Amino acid sequence: MISQDMAALISAQINREFYSAYFYLALSAQAETMNLKGTAAWFMAKHGEELTHALKMYRYLIDQDAPVVLMGVAAPEAVTDGVLRIFERTLEHERTVTSSINTMLDHALTEKDHATAIFLQWFVTEQIEEEATVKDIVGRLRLFGDQGYGLLMIDNELAAMAKQVGKTAGATSGTAQ
Ligand code: FEO
Repeated sequence: MISQDMAALISAQINREFYSAYFYLALSAQAETMNLKGTAAWFMAKHGEELTHALKMYRYLIDQDAPVVLMGVAAPEAVTDGVLRIFERTLEHERTVTSSINTMLDHALTEKDHATAIFLQWFVTEQIEEEATVKDIVGRLRLFGDQGYGLLMIDNELAAMAKQVGKTAGATSGTAQ
């Protein structure tokens, strides 16, 4: 059993994960309008990954016999000023998610809630990987440009990466608690 405060923080994070999924779905749709199939596939794969994050937390609350409080998901922000900006916003967004995960972990440690602290470790590690991946994409877009041949090359890379994200998400959901 975990505290009411801890459960409330996790419920709020479930909402943020659903927002992330919604945000990436919007960015996938935006990429489709730009004929960037690889970018659209990558954001669609990220959409699925964020849903698995929300459901991991949902399952944790259920397993801890804690209340699940589902809240309205805000409309996602529209990013229409180019591919570089789309990925810069993605990086900024992931950094806010990292910050909220860290706040939850701080709270768990304050409460000496070892179970939740261990549970959250997975998300801490996941955020390191997610930020690094997006930072790399932003760097490549700055280096090669977000138009013309440079963009085509990166879009092709994202198509390949999307398949990998899909496989990882599948493996993750298979082990979700
Ligand atoms: Fe579930 Fe990318 O944060």
